[in-house]
Amino acid sequence: MRDVGGKTIFISGGASGIGLGVARAFARAGAHVAIGDRDLAAGEEAAGRLQGLGVKALALPLEVTDRASWIAAAEAAEATLGPVCVLHSNAGVGGAPPATPDDRYIEKITPADWEWLMKINVDGHFFALQAFLPRFKARPELPAHVILTASMAGLTPQSEYVPGPYVVSKYATLGLAEHMRMELAHAPHIGLSVLCPGIVSTNIGRNSAKNAPGGPRAVTQGNDALMASGKDPDAVGAWVLKGVQEGRHYILPHPEYRDLVQRYHADIIDAFGESAQPGRDDQVPYPDWMVR
Ligand SMILES: NC(=O)c1ccc[n+]([C@@H]2O[C@H](COP(=O)([O-])OP(=O)(O)OC[C@H]3O[C@@H](n4cnc5c(N)ncnc54)[C@H](O)[C@@H]3O)[C@@H](O)[C@H]2O)c1
Repeated sequence: MRDVGGKTIFISGGASGIGLGVARAFARAGAHVAIGDRDLAAGEEAAGRLQGLGVKALALPLEVTDRASWIAAAEAAEATLGPVCVLHSNAGVGGAPPATPDDRYIEKITPADWEWLMKINVDGHFFALQAFLPRFKARPELPAHVILTASMAGLTPQSEYVPGPYVVSKYATLGLAEHMRMELAHAPHIGLSVLCPGIVSTNIGRNSAKNAPGGPRAVTQGNDALMASGKDPDAVGAWVLKGVQEGRHYILPHPEYRDLVQRYHADIIDAFGESAQPGRDDQVPYPDWMVR
């Protein structure tokens, strides 16, 4: 989508961090912005500032784990701003901080903590697509674009200190994005990008601790220094805008991870050997978009 001027973007989690950086970049390019966020006060403050850039902006209450909330937010956004052309499904959490460093191990994570993260980071994207794809498909004359926020943690595990459930949720998001790339080949007016950032300087650690299941928790030690070392959300927002304008499937604002990703993928390729049953080898189902 070359020109986003005058078009409307809906951003889940647009009240803070990466979503807010994307909101600013699109607004500077002349797009109207609907922010959907569970933190409505922060969303309204952000929308007020976006209006100062000369575009229309509004904040809507959104709980991304609730399908009805998504459908209500989509309806309300379009009733006020007209048809949404870009959906950025972005809201996410980093994981409920473990009580001690030892409690980060998978066998110690409670089902409540696991489900809380999966519902936000995975179900949130599913409901986003369910709310907006029928609208996009009903308007084949209007180009549309979907951005799913995954993470570099969905392409390679990082350090063992990145919470396991978080890594799983981001691999799931990558899986959803790869599947949607095939499904949307049948709806060529709808583009799709998956955003995989490395560290970005946001409040994700603090927001995750504040909203953890069972009540607020202490922030993980070292979180603030790690977050401060990340890239600026506005720089990432500008990179996302460029990626959408160029129609990129992968939006990768952190090229410093290239070698790490290459090594992980090389490890998979190297693991292929002889056939388990020669002569019974499957026909490989290459997707349509892949030129053989
Ligand atoms: N910050 C990073 O280093 C980093 C790196 C890679 C990927 N990401 C991903 O980027 C996305 C945004 O994270 P961020 O770093 O900007 O965090 P953030 O905490 O600054 O912003 C997240 C926003 O999402 C909202 N939100 C959270 N749960 C919600 C829910 N259930 N319903 C509605 N809104 C909800 C929050 O209120 C907040 O406004 C996440 O998906 C995260 O996993 C972040």
